[in-house]
Amino acid sequence: MADKLRASEQGLKIVKEARRKKRWTQEKWRQAAFTSISTLKRFLKGERIDRDTFINICEVVGVKWEEVAEPSEIQETDLPVVSVASTTPSLEDQINVLPLQPIDAYSKNQRGIWIPNLRCRKVWGRESFSEDVLHRLNDPQEAPILSLCGSAGYGKTEVACKVAMAAVRNNLFADVLWVKARDTEFSDGKISQSARDEALSWNQLLQEIAHQLDGCSVKRVHQRIKEEKRLIVLDNAETAQLEEILPKLNEMLNPSRVLLTSRFQTNASYVGLINIPPLEENSSYQLLQDEAKYKNVPAILQANTEQLQQVYHLSCGAPLALHFIVGRVFDDGTLEPVLSALEQAGGDVEKIYEFSLKTAWQRISNVTKNVLRYMGNSDAGVTWEELSGARQVQESDWIVTRRELGRWYLIEKETDAKGKPRYNLHPWVRRSLRGGLVDKWQLSLQEWEQIAKWKYDID
Ligand SMILES: Nc1ncnc2c1ncn2[C@@H]1O[C@H](COP(=O)(O)OP(=O)(O)OP(=O)(O)O)[C@@H](O)[C@H]1O
Ligand SMILES: [Mg+2]
Repeated sequence: MADKLRASEQGLKIVKEARRKKRWTQEKWRQAAFTSISTLKRFLKGERIDRDTFINICEVVGVKWEEVAEPSEIQETDLPVVSVASTTPSLEDQINVLPLQPIDAYSKNQRGIWIPNLRCRKVWGRESFSEDVLHRLNDPQEAPILSLCGSAGYGKTEVACKVAMAAVRNNLFADVLWVKARDTEFSDGKISQSARDEALSWNQLLQEIAHQLDGCSVKRVHQRIKEEKRLIVLDNAETAQLEEILPKLNEMLNPSRVLLTSRFQTNASYVGLINIPPLEENSSYQLLQDEAKYKNVPAILQANTEQLQQVYHLSCGAPLALHFIVGRVFDDGTLEPVLSALEQAGGDVEKIYEFSLKTAWQRISNVTKNVLRYMGNSDAGVTWEELSGARQVQESDWIVTRRELGRWYLIEKETDAKGKPRYNLHPWVRRSLRGGLVDKWQLSLQEWEQIAKWKYDID
């Protein structure tokens, strides 16, 4: 995937027209896209700029970046499937293609608008698995509720997004409704009591479904779910009151279906379990190479097969762990110390996450810590305006902070229903902040010395 993009002549006409309608000055546009005037000017001259910034500049002014970018620079995997009557793409093709990003949420009637954006740049190695999940959801012999289970960070939510997009594209379901229960807070391997108390109730779920069904009344939900085949995704189902929800949902299903993502297994007879496997070795290498290229991390790009194998085994094939490892190697500039540190985690992903966050926390600036703490206490993603109002974060600091958080893979970018960028934390990072884990992490003198040695070659 290209890490830089430039606008085509035609694309520039489209954005200029969109900007004219908004009556935006360059300054206003720059602020909305969190970029500098010089980058915006380079964009307007049709020069190559950073891919994420390019997408931001287009999104905030309300146009699709794919229509603006020079076509020869967009790789095939970036493009949405365009239905052509005579050549319907195969199910596999449809699953492999990334969704439009963001889904155009301006039109209320558009199908699939409740499916969140993918948060990674490409979902590696989940093609046949996603295809299998979709087939099972569509199989009348299967249980009406399927639960995608597995530990944190194995990619359950990303697979569910891919499956949901393909379900709509392939016309297997009339639409997808997507409800996210609370982000999970674990303590000592269990969901914390406070999270249990606030777990999503049946009534809350019904209200959310009613809202997504064009705001129909709660009383009509049953009928609406029965009359058309819809897919309901309940993400983070471990923090929903499933004992009450599942039997009631089950009564409404057929033809509609439910897909849960959950860290726990559920044993009701009408729930089919699907365990998410670790990424395969090759897909992990592809993920590592791609991220390392994108971020320019020579220590990974030049790693030998043995080192890559070691990274794979130590990461347990969990995509979140692989991302954290890239962030850490990027900062250290070398692979070996990261590998030795990872060995201490002994194959426990939660320990890898903790170790990664701890290192990041000790190396990020105080402004960034301040922003992270604020984000940890908010249940949804935050916007720049919110941060600047609530935490008085200066715009120049925010640019640095955003870069810092992105470098360590601590934030995920989302786009809200109006196309506005929001920044969110992975559930694991959020719970660590909330649980006060980060407060224990003062860097010892010995650790400082180690870092200086790796980074600056000081003895
Ligand atoms: N196949 C993949 N290729 C590249 N990145 C991935 C892949 N799967 C997941 N990711 C990335 O890894 C991180 C963890 O994925 P995700 O949030 O889907 O995990 P999860 O199993 O839903 O975790 P949780 O139980 O905490 O909700 C995310 O940043 C996601 O974008
Ligand atoms: Mg998830």
